[in-house]
Formats: sequence, C-alpha cells, structure tokens
Amino acid sequence: MRPLIAGNWKMNGLSSSLAELDRLGERIAGRDLACEVVLCPPATLLAAMALRAASYGVGLGGQDCHMKESGAHTGDISALMLKDAGASYVIVGHSERRADHVETDALVKAKAAAARAAGLIPIICVGETAAERAAGKAEAVVGRQLAGSLPEGDLVVAYEPVWAIGTGLTPTAKDIAAMHAFIRGVIGENRRILYGGSVKPSNARDILAIEDVNGALVGGASLKAEDFHAIIAAV
Ligand code: PGA
Repeated sequence: MRPLIAGNWKMNGLSSSLAELDRLGERIAGRDLACEVVLCPPATLLAAMALRAASYGVGLGGQDCHMKESGAHTGDISALMLKDAGASYVIVGHSERRADHVETDALVKAKAAAARAAGLIPIICVGETAAERAAGKAEAVVGRQLAGSLPEGDLVVAYEPVWAIGTGLTPTAKDIAAMHAFIRGVIGENRRILYGGSVKPSNARDILAIEDVNGALVGGASLKAEDFHAIIAAV
C-alpha cells in the first residue's frame, strides 16, 4: 500500500497561499516520492490550485461535503462540487466538525457515501477524547465510530486522537500501534490507515515507521511547505 501524506489546512489560506503550494512544488515536482501527497485547502482555493497541484504531482481534497448531491442547502458544498473543482479526496467526520457542527456517525457515513458516489475517496476521521482514553474507552469509542461511519468501498481511515490535535501531544508508539492494529482488524487489509494529531518534522519518521501506519493527516505542519515537505521526506 502506497502511504498517503495529506495536509489539512483547516480554515487557513487566502489566494496569497498559492505561493506555499508553489514552494512545495519546487521541492517535490518530478521527484520519485515514496508516498502520495494530497493537500486539503479551504474549498475557496481548490479551483485556483488545481492546475498547479496536478503539475507538481499533488492531489487535492476537500475538508467536508454535504450528504446530498445538490439542492437547497445554503452554505454547504457537495462532493460533486469538490470533484468539479479538482479534488479527488475529501475529509469527513473530522473531530472539529463532529464537535462544532454536532456531526453524528450516521451523518459522517452519509457524507462519506456521497463522496464515494461523486468519485471522491473519503478520508474518514475517528478518535477518542482525553477523557475517553483515561477511562480506558479509546478502542470502544473508535470501534463505535468505525461501525457507524464507514460506507462500502474505497476509503481511508484517519485515526486522530482528539487530545493530540493541535496540542503538540502524541500517543506513545505502542498506543498508536495498538489502535492501528485494532482499526486494521475492523476495516481489513486493503485500506490505508493514517495517523493524525501533532505530526511534525521531528516526530514523523518515528510515527510513520509504526506497523499499520499508512501515512499521516497533518494539520498545522502542512501550512508551511518546508515542514510539510520534511514530513513527506520522512516516509
Ligand atoms: P494537527 O492537526 O496536525 O495540527 O494536530 C491534525 C488534524 O486535525 O488533522
């Protein structure tokens, strides 16, 4: 399985950020990379990035999509629109969306199915909170999320402990290995499992060497081409 390094820009990036894509392109275009590289900028930048990203060998993804193909849903974006703007992936069920927009497993599953129907590969995020881990419920929580959020077919799972996102904290290698082995047992052999949560140049090599870690979903460190490239180079 070819590893995937995906950058999640979250609600960051203006047209001036296209220069950051160019800086990444300078470092990777035409090189024989050991992984697939995808950037998930805000939807407003997708179309502007599409041509250049393709020329650099960088794939694009959205950060969320609606469960319906079109219709009266003010402010929402459909999977087909993302595809039309140049995306081939879409993140669904990120913990920030589960928290900020009260997204349930059933809704995440419907969004992931809509992504599949539009020809996008969903990157479905799961992960426990600090309190859930402290209570010994991490596997139960992730197991429930997997059972409720995965559609049929091609997909990527991103294990992102909520307490590790944007905090600089990461689980131990043993804990990552245990959770990825658990997820592997649920989803089978042929789907990639990414780790996400405070991945940076200094820890990427160790995290990416863990069994059943098939890449990373990178937030903060994907905003700077130099850092994101260092993570890509760590594969
Ligand atoms: P982080 O975010 O790398 O900034 O911790 C990861 C994510 O939320 O996808």
